[in-house]
Amino acid sequence: MKSETSTLPFRLSPLPYAFDALEPVVSAETLEVHYDAHHRGYVENLNKLLPGSGYEGLSLTELVEKSEGPVLNQAAQAWNHDFYWKSMTPKADLTTPDEKLVEAIRLSFGNLESFRIEFEKTAHTLFGSGWLWLVTNPNRELSLLVGNNAENPLRHGLTPLIVCDLWEHAYYIDYRSSRNAYVAVFLDILNWNFANENFRAAQSSPGLTTKMRPTGKFSVVKNTPISGDPEPEKNHPEGSGFKSSLGFGY
Ligand SMILES: [Fe+2]
Repeated sequence: MKSETSTLPFRLSPLPYAFDALEPVVSAETLEVHYDAHHRGYVENLNKLLPGSGYEGLSLTELVEKSEGPVLNQAAQAWNHDFYWKSMTPKADLTTPDEKLVEAIRLSFGNLESFRIEFEKTAHTLFGSGWLWLVTNPNRELSLLVGNNAENPLRHGLTPLIVCDLWEHAYYIDYRSSRNAYVAVFLDILNWNFANENFRAAQSSPGLTTKMRPTGKFSVVKNTPISGDPEPEKNHPEGSGFKSSLGFGY
């Protein structure tokens, strides 16, 4: 993936760890296929689509915020995967949420254990393929948000702190059809340092007060878990829209 200021082509950014670094939560086989086939494919498809699209010259983040259609699908999937890799860390390097983030979690979820429960419950509400985000707003409120296909909170004035990939290719080799089992252990390798950094940056950026203000009510997600596991992803159209979680007034 390219830097925010460079031009075509975008490049696949390197993984921040080895393929086997997240075992046993994410196997080396899963990580290699996920990164080397799926993530690479999104970047390559984006490079094919950009010439003549009218979106040439935009950074990847700008593409996520401003583009539409097939370009948006590929750009968002490329951006989301880059963010996903950084949202996980090898167990040897595990960290904890810092004081400010712990306080925000306490205010929005009650405590860390309640956050974990809400995280799993929110994942259950996603029908089909997509992403589960922990996001914040300028008021230091946190919320969990599920988005279908290639959705991204940046398009809704929200700042992501971490993300969990809920496409089948993220877990099927290791957990087969049990997405719930994958989500249940994902937080065991959560990169809290990454969440801390994103939370600090979101609260200290002077330009965020207006830009990040949610267009609807921003509150803690209230979930109604659905039973069963998601449908196979093979027939899902990518980036076909945002399925905002309950509690957001979009
Ligand atoms: Fe993925």
